[in-house]
Amino acid sequence: MIRSTRASATLVAAAISLASLASTAEAAGGGAKELMHPHFGFEGVTGHYDKEALQRGYQVYRTICSSCHSMKQLSFRNLGQKGAPFYLDECPDGVPETTNCSNPNDNPIVKAIAAEYQVQDGPDDYGDMFDRPGVPSDPFPRPYPNEQIARLANNGALPPDMSLLVKARHHGAAYIYSLMQGYAEPPASVEIPAGQYYNEYYPGDMSQYLKPEYKDAEGHPLEGVEVPPGGVFAMSQPLYDGMVDYADEEMPETIEQYAKDVVEFLTWASEPKLEERKKLGVMTVIYLVVLCGLLYASYREIWSKVDH
Ligand code: HEC
Repeated sequence: MIRSTRASATLVAAAISLASLASTAEAAGGGAKELMHPHFGFEGVTGHYDKEALQRGYQVYRTICSSCHSMKQLSFRNLGQKGAPFYLDECPDGVPETTNCSNPNDNPIVKAIAAEYQVQDGPDDYGDMFDRPGVPSDPFPRPYPNEQIARLANNGALPPDMSLLVKARHHGAAYIYSLMQGYAEPPASVEIPAGQYYNEYYPGDMSQYLKPEYKDAEGHPLEGVEVPPGGVFAMSQPLYDGMVDYADEEMPETIEQYAKDVVEFLTWASEPKLEERKKLGVMTVIYLVVLCGLLYASYREIWSKVDH
């Protein structure tokens, strides 16, 4: 009896592990529209990043988002690590054979990306600071030297650091994907303050922006007045069709595609070890299932020898 309880307890444990691995998103809360959930390759039990999408996503971040959003946790060399957008198994043609391109510091693509920037260094022998081209060990440059300047440039709002943004928001990937596409003409019933922008997926309460003729004396919406979904915040629409040129001619240059790619990149940035974690999860479940089988077989074997 005791043994059979143990065997079933193991089965239950295996079932719980499986269920938690396959857990999926619940519905979005707040007054915002329900989020769009495209298919992301990194979701699911065997999910992994799409390297080309990661590269395009970096391009979108670099061209558009990086002018306001920092990524303090990233250095250029992270782009060349295993599983990263520009990781190289072997060197491309033309690179000397003695180079080890799987080492991010020697990866020629990463070196070229870093060298596009001028970074401040020093002091030199004369005590002066100087600019030099970036190298892989340099952190990603920040768009603003400090928070005050960042706020001054953005109507008082602070663009959040993007290193962990996907984790910091509820259903981060679907949320950011939807937010990029959620800019809409504000409905006629609301008045949007200057320097603020209406977005159907931003969590907020639009009743406070209703024009006076749609509210009663206490500020509640009049009967029959529908409060629009979404909210307002200080980021103007960052993406438009055609604004980033993709090298791959087949790739659509649309807000939707840019949004999908930049989310892939931001998800990688917030969880670069996702693939390893998922592989480990799958191995653990296989291990548990095999263990269950063995336990069950030995239980049958042992108890078959007992006379009834
Ligand atoms: C011109 C500056 C600017 C650019 C370019 C920009 N953002 Fe922003 N972003 C902001 C500001 C400012 C905020 C904070 C707004 C606020 O809190 O009211 C913000 C906030 C955000 C947020 C957080 C929203 C929330 O839930 O709090 C996300 C996500 C975001 N930006 C994504 C992006 C992405 C992705 C790009 C590039 C495609 C981008 N941003 C480009 C200025 C910018």
